[in-house]
Amino acid sequence: MSETWWRGAAIYQVYLRSFADGNGDGIGDLAGLRAKLPYLADLGVDAIWLNPWYPSPMADGGYDVADYRAIEPSFGTLAEAEAYIEEAHALGIRTIIDIVPNHGSDQQDWFVEALAAGPGSPERERFLFRAGRDGGLPPNDWQSIFAGPAWTQVPDGEWYLHLFAPEQPDFNWRNPEVVEEFHAILRFWLDRGVDGIRIDSAAVLFKDLDNVEESYTDHDEVHEVYRGWRAITDAYEGRFLVGEMWMPDQERFALYLRQDEMQTAFNFDFLSRPWDADELRASIDLTLTTHVPIGAPPTWVLSNHDVTRPVTKYGRPDTSFSHQDRKHGMPTDLVLGERRARAAALLAMALPGGLYVYQGEELGLPEVEDLPDALLQDPIFARSHGTDRGRDGCRVPIPWSGKEPPFGFGAGTPWLPQPADWKNLTVESQQADQNSMLALYRDGLRIRRTELGDGVLTWLDSAPGVLTFTRDSTLTCIVNLTPDPIDLPAGQILLTSSPLDEGRLPSDTTAWVR
Ligand code: GLC
Ligand code: CA
Repeated sequence: MSETWWRGAAIYQVYLRSFADGNGDGIGDLAGLRAKLPYLADLGVDAIWLNPWYPSPMADGGYDVADYRAIEPSFGTLAEAEAYIEEAHALGIRTIIDIVPNHGSDQQDWFVEALAAGPGSPERERFLFRAGRDGGLPPNDWQSIFAGPAWTQVPDGEWYLHLFAPEQPDFNWRNPEVVEEFHAILRFWLDRGVDGIRIDSAAVLFKDLDNVEESYTDHDEVHEVYRGWRAITDAYEGRFLVGEMWMPDQERFALYLRQDEMQTAFNFDFLSRPWDADELRASIDLTLTTHVPIGAPPTWVLSNHDVTRPVTKYGRPDTSFSHQDRKHGMPTDLVLGERRARAAALLAMALPGGLYVYQGEELGLPEVEDLPDALLQDPIFARSHGTDRGRDGCRVPIPWSGKEPPFGFGAGTPWLPQPADWKNLTVESQQADQNSMLALYRDGLRIRRTELGDGVLTWLDSAPGVLTFTRDSTLTCIVNLTPDPIDLPAGQILLTSSPLDEGRLPSDTTAWVR
């Protein structure tokens, strides 16, 4: 594979806790992942992105990192992580890890030292400690992204900033010690053979704390950080950065993809759009116009561990998505949702650039919306006083085999319960079915690997409600978002997301024609 393999790669996201449990404690782990590597090789992915795998009290599913140079004991050991990286490489699968630069865990040594050292100490300078305002008020009224105040007071009276949960204190990125520490962490993992770095919450590292309004997204200073990271990764062969930035302004977004910054970033615009031809085309055009001129490959993401599962999202009367509006509990037609999710998958796979597939997406798992309150773990649920049920519904452990929970996930009781009706969605049952979502993903990824990837897209004329484009003039992708069947162009039909209707392409269906 080439140095720039990531330009057109299909990358599979593993949420380790929920992927496969090797030791029967109900929590997914590295042993489980290693046992499933042949499944991922067979699915045809080029790389695996793992959510944070470091020691963590799990206040935010591992995004509260207690030690950036070790592995969470319930997931395994550093030696196992190294063995996993090697085994995956042997199967042609690369590894992308998740680095969380905005905040650590309140159990991290640095934070424990900062608390002990007291106000004015260099230890506190690694975080954002401030004195409060008169009357026992925090330094300002900023709200946390997870709801509730963004400040927590410590026993000596100072307050520290946390854009997310109180267990996730924010680092002070104006302190060179923080910059150096993350350089060392990057080298630590690059030296162990990881091929890519996913940068968590990449746009929010710098804060203007004197501003009464929340002021942290996309400050210009942040670019210097990624220039430094790029210089480090460039010293290794074939490695790349992918940034997580939720930013509406595409021109500002593109600044992160300049030649000396990140190579790629997640495209969340596409994922947020409703199931509508004009909206999707507008998103594709917007994405291409911001990426192509600067030579950065776009990425296409239908889901991840933070968003509603596509089968559920596309089955709702309102198919748009935003973090502020998860539409939890809105009536959902899962049959329609699955049909559209299949069409969306073939659309995303046909677009130029990198593709991300979140575990379970290839099985068509729906969002689990009826998890009991007492089992919900996402801090958003408690911090919003239950008004937002959070993201646990897309993090339920994968059903692998068998007729009842835990569906081959492991010997123990999974950390979140699986719905009993997932017996028809297991890997085992879908492997036996030519028409399953899993078969569609496997076939689509195989064709994509040989015929698609990174390259030119050209729109062809089509009726309203229909998307038609070619890729390098060999493959035409047609998506029918109208209610009625349409004619297909002449040629060899390579794949369709649902069966044809007397040779015509039915509603909510995608076809690939050569
Ligand atoms: C990112 C992660 C999300 C996490 C947050 C805080 O958005 O994807 O899961 O909660 O950052 O680290
Ligand atoms: Ca386990």
